[in-house]
Amino acid sequence: MKVVITKDYNEMSAKAFEIMKEVVTANPCAVLGLATGSTPIGLYKEMIRDHKENGTSYKSIRAVNLDEYKGLDITSDQSYVYFMRENLFNHIDIDLANTHIENGKAEDAEAECARYNAFLANNVQDIQVLGIGSNGHIAFNEPGTSFDSVTHIVDLAESTIKDNSRLFKSIDEVPRQAFTMGLKNIMDAKKIIVLANGENKAKAVFGLVKGEITENVPASILQNHPDCTLICDEAAAKLIAEA
Ligand code: F6R
Repeated sequence: MKVVITKDYNEMSAKAFEIMKEVVTANPCAVLGLATGSTPIGLYKEMIRDHKENGTSYKSIRAVNLDEYKGLDITSDQSYVYFMRENLFNHIDIDLANTHIENGKAEDAEAECARYNAFLANNVQDIQVLGIGSNGHIAFNEPGTSFDSVTHIVDLAESTIKDNSRLFKSIDEVPRQAFTMGLKNIMDAKKIIVLANGENKAKAVFGLVKGEITENVPASILQNHPDCTLICDEAAAKLIAEA
C-alpha cells in the first residue's frame, strides 16, 4: 500500500483530487466509486471547483456509491443519495441517471442487494474512494464481516451509530441497518484511495497499514490490493509514523 501523509485536511483533499482528476481525464466514461461521510467532502469541493474553473466534464462518468441507510431515500435529508446530490452531483455536469446507490426503501431487500451486485459486476470501479470508520470499517462492513462479502444488509455497530449520530437530531434517529457494498465488491475496484484525517482515526489507520490482515479490522484487507493509496493527515498517521 502506498502511504501519503499530508500536513492537514486540505492537503489530503488536494492530493486525493490529483488522483481523481488523472482517472477522469484518462477515461471520460470512468466508473467512480464514491463514499459519503465527512472525510471526502474536501475532495468533492475540489472536483466542483475544478469543474467550474477548468470545465472538467462528468457528462459520461458513472458513479456508484458504497452504501445507503435502510429505510431512507432521496426524500430524507439524512440519506446518502441526498448527501451525494448536495455535496457533489448537483454542482457538476454528471447525468443523475448515471449515479447509482442502493435503494434504501426497496421492498425486497435481498433482491435489491442482488440487483446492485449484478450492476457492479458490469460497472467495475476505475477508482474507489473510501473513508474509514474509527473501528476499521470500510463502507458499512463492520468488524467480523467476511472478506468474501458482496452487497448485503448490515446491523450497524454501536460505535458506528454513535459516530454517525452527530449528523442526526438525536441518536434515536440513526437507522440501525444499512445496505452496503461488500469487501469483495470494494477489492474488485481497479484503484483505491483511502482518506483519513484526525486523531480518532489513528488506531484504524494503524490496523489498515500495519496490522494483521483480519476480518476483525475490515480495512486490513486493503493491504492485499494491488493499487491502493492511503492519504491521511499527520494526526491520523500518528501511530503508523511512530511504529
Ligand atoms: C460512507 C462510508 C463509511 C465512512 C466512514 C468514515 O459511505 O461508507 O465507511 O467512510 O464511516 O466516516 P467519516 O468520513 O464521516 O469519518
